[in-house]
Parts: sequence; structure tokens; C-alpha cells
Amino acid sequence: MAKPLVLIVDDDPEVVKALERVMGRAGYRTLLAGDTDEAREALAVNEVDLFLVDLVLPSGSGLELITGARMRDANLAVIVLTGHGSVQSAVEAMRAGAYDYLTKPVNPEELLLQVERALENRRMRLDLESLRGRLDERLTGEGVIAVSPQMKRIFEMVDQLAKTDITVLVTGPSGVGKELVADAIQHRSNRRDGPYIKLHCAALSEGLLESELFGHERGAFTGAIRRHAGAFERAHDGTLFLDEISEIPRATQVKLLRVLQDQRFERVGGEETLQVDVRLIAATNADPAEQMRAGRFREDLYYRLKKVQIYVPPIAERPEDLLPMISRFVSDAARAYDRPVTGVEPTALDLLLTYDWPGNVRELKNTLEGMVALAKGDELTVEDLPPEIKDRVAAINPTSMIRVPVGWTMEQVEREVIRRTLAKNAGNRTQTAKVLGIGLRTLHRKINEYELK
Ligand SMILES: Nc1ncnc2c1ncn2[C@@H]1O[C@H](COP(=O)(O)OP(=O)(O)OP(=O)(O)O)[C@@H](O)[C@H]1O
Ligand SMILES: [Mg+2]
Repeated sequence: MAKPLVLIVDDDPEVVKALERVMGRAGYRTLLAGDTDEAREALAVNEVDLFLVDLVLPSGSGLELITGARMRDANLAVIVLTGHGSVQSAVEAMRAGAYDYLTKPVNPEELLLQVERALENRRMRLDLESLRGRLDERLTGEGVIAVSPQMKRIFEMVDQLAKTDITVLVTGPSGVGKELVADAIQHRSNRRDGPYIKLHCAALSEGLLESELFGHERGAFTGAIRRHAGAFERAHDGTLFLDEISEIPRATQVKLLRVLQDQRFERVGGEETLQVDVRLIAATNADPAEQMRAGRFREDLYYRLKKVQIYVPPIAERPEDLLPMISRFVSDAARAYDRPVTGVEPTALDLLLTYDWPGNVRELKNTLEGMVALAKGDELTVEDLPPEIKDRVAAINPTSMIRVPVGWTMEQVEREVIRRTLAKNAGNRTQTAKVLGIGLRTLHRKINEYELK
């Protein structure tokens, strides 16, 4: 970390020199200015951390300088020097964003103390800002990639649903971004400042799950040495995210249904009925309709939950998101691991784009993070690809992929698509027409036209 840079502005060269000496001895870097113009110039071309300024300058007001400087950098630390302890102007300066003021002649120790405090304050504000930035990115959608029409539609729904308290069921295969959608609903809702409790319902025994959901009283079961507040209780006035909801045993589903209906429940082993105000978001990567038919999901709970369902499709069904995700994840990982990786070489990119990503966004993200962490050059190459992608793509490429050179006409493309689909379906025209989504007569005509026998 570079030493903080302090800009000293005073029309009295003696004062400037004295301040410079004090600051320099304390280890700060300094910039000096004798009037407002010099000060503006210095602020424009340097990353100043602290601004030490005389309020009364012959060429203009120090106050204006402060206002201008704080517009460029809202976290700039400012300390004001006043000639005759004019409190009124000092108050104005504080209003314009100055951290503190000192009256001349300045006591060096007092100055250093104030400078240190002002800089500490600046650091805290900067930290907070970057933390907030990162949180926002994770939660508000700044970090969400939604380029495909499907994802755009989903995030429109998220915006609408966020304004309500409706229970939402998020479904979709593993790793598609279900939790991300839940987070976005919570963060865009007016419960965003309330508690946000997440509970994974899989891998918990029935007893444990109930105690996690509804809490328990002391002595409710062996080992219950003190009262425990469950997820519903802790999520009061906020949002509860129940992940893997289809893993909940049927007996517990009944109790869950009751809470959904009237927001009332009892802690395990307790008599007292608790009333809460909780917004529920549930997720599952199973198909709930199928689970219901198989008898694993209670019909009444299913119908209650499915009213508002968001299905997040696998990445293979929304190819538009793939390229932006690749570039975002690569640059994020490069920054996180401090690697000089700036992109992906075309052949490797081709393989990444043709792979079908059975583990969806999570697999894509993990894969790219791993590749970036181990990369040798500044571009990811085929060499950097994990073997399963290299092999898999090699295995599917010759038979089920069509490569179309740029420069082909639509007719050439159509001919190739028909030829390959026919081959793949062993010449079966009915099947080929069905796959291509065209009529059998159209297919016959095209086969003749393109002389495909
Ligand atoms: N559209 C997106 N834009 C940016 N990042 C995304 C997107 N979708 C998912 N991710 C990221 O991919 C990872 C997996 O997402 P998430 O955990 O939400 O998936 P999931 O559907 O809940 O997975 P699982 O079924 O395994 O629980 C997370 O790191 C998430 O931030
Ligand atoms: Mg999840």
C-alpha cells in the first residue's frame, strides 16, 4: 500500500513549508499548492487521499475547492485550516464534507492526530463501499447474467414477485441458479433489511428437520438442553429460503402446509403457538409434479407451492447466456486469483461453447475458476481444459455436431442440416422430418432439390 498522499493548500509559503515538514516526517507523501488553480490541477491529476486546505485564499474560496474535490471523490478526507478561528466558515466547510478544522497556528501533534483520524475514516468508507459493491453484485442482479430471453423473463418475474409476499417455488436442474433467483427476490423485496434465513432440507433426519424448521423447547428430546429457535421463528419479518424442499418427509410436509396457511406453529415439544410473518421461497431440483405423482410430495402442499413457480432452464437451453458467462467468470477468477488471464483462445472457446454443461452454471463457473488458477499463459487454451471436456467434446463432435463455415449460404446450411439429420436417423424420413420440425412433403422436396439420396 502506497503512503497516503496529502495535498496542502495555503497562500502563505511559510505555512506550506511548515506543514510539509510535519507531514513528511510522519511518512506521508505531499503535494503543495499556493492557490486554487494549482490545487485544482493537483486534484485533477493525482489520487489525493487527504486535502489540507486554508479556507481563505486570495484567488478564491477554499470552500469551493472542497465542494469540487468531494464531487470527484466522495470519500476524500478533508481538514480545514482557518486563520482566525472563524467558526462560521468552519461550520460551512464541515457541511461541504470536511472531516475537521484546525485553527492556525497549527499544533503539529494535533494536526497529525486529526490527519490520522480523517484517513482512518476514509479507509472505513472505502472498505464499506467495496463491501457494499460486492454484496450488491451478489444480491441485486448486477452480478447476474441474464442475456437469454428466458433469463430476462425470469428476472422480470423476480421484480414483480419481489413487490409481493407470495410464496415462490423455484425449480430447475442442479446448478442453474435457483438460489441466485431466490436471493434476488429477497434483495429486491421490501423485506430486504429483515432477516434472510436459508435452510437445506436434504440430509436432515425428520426429527432434526422439524427442529430446524420450527425450533424446539428445552427437553423436547434427548440432547435438547436448551430452547432452540427454528428457521420460521428467526425469519420473522423477513424471508425464509427452503432449499431441496422435495426432500421433506410427508409428515413434516403437513406441518409446513399449516405454517404456509396461517403462519402459525409450535416449537417441537412446546404448547405455545407462535405467530410469524415470513415470506417463503422454496427450491427444488426435482420435478415437483413427478414427485407428487410418485407420492413423495403431498398434493395439497404441491398445489399450494406451484401457484407461483419459476423454472430456471439448464444452460444448454439458453445458449445466449454462455458466452457472457464465460467472459465474466474468467475475468472474475483472474481478479480473485490475481492471474494475468485475459481471455480464451478460439479453439478452447469453441469447445467450451459446444460442451453441454450437465452441472450447469455451477460446473461452468468451477471449471473456469480451476482453469484460470492453473493457466500458464494469459489466454486459456485447449491444454488448460479439464480432460472430461476435451474427451466429451471429441466424442460427440463427429456425429452430432455440425460445423458451418462462415461464408456459406442459407441453402448450403440447410442442405448440410438435412443431410446430417438423415444420416443420424439412418435415412428414416418420417423421423427426420419430425426432428427438423418440417412436413414430410417438404422434406421430400428438399431431398430432391439438394440431390440428397
Ligand atoms: N445467471 C447467472 N449469472 C451469474 N452467476 C450465476 C448465474 N446463475 C448461477 N450463477 C452462479 O452459479 C452458481 C450456482 O448457482 P446456484 O447456487 O444459485 O444454483 P442452484 O440452482 O441453487 O444449484 P443447486 O441445484 O446445486 O442447489 C453460483 O455461484 C451462482 O452465483
Ligand atoms: Mg441451490
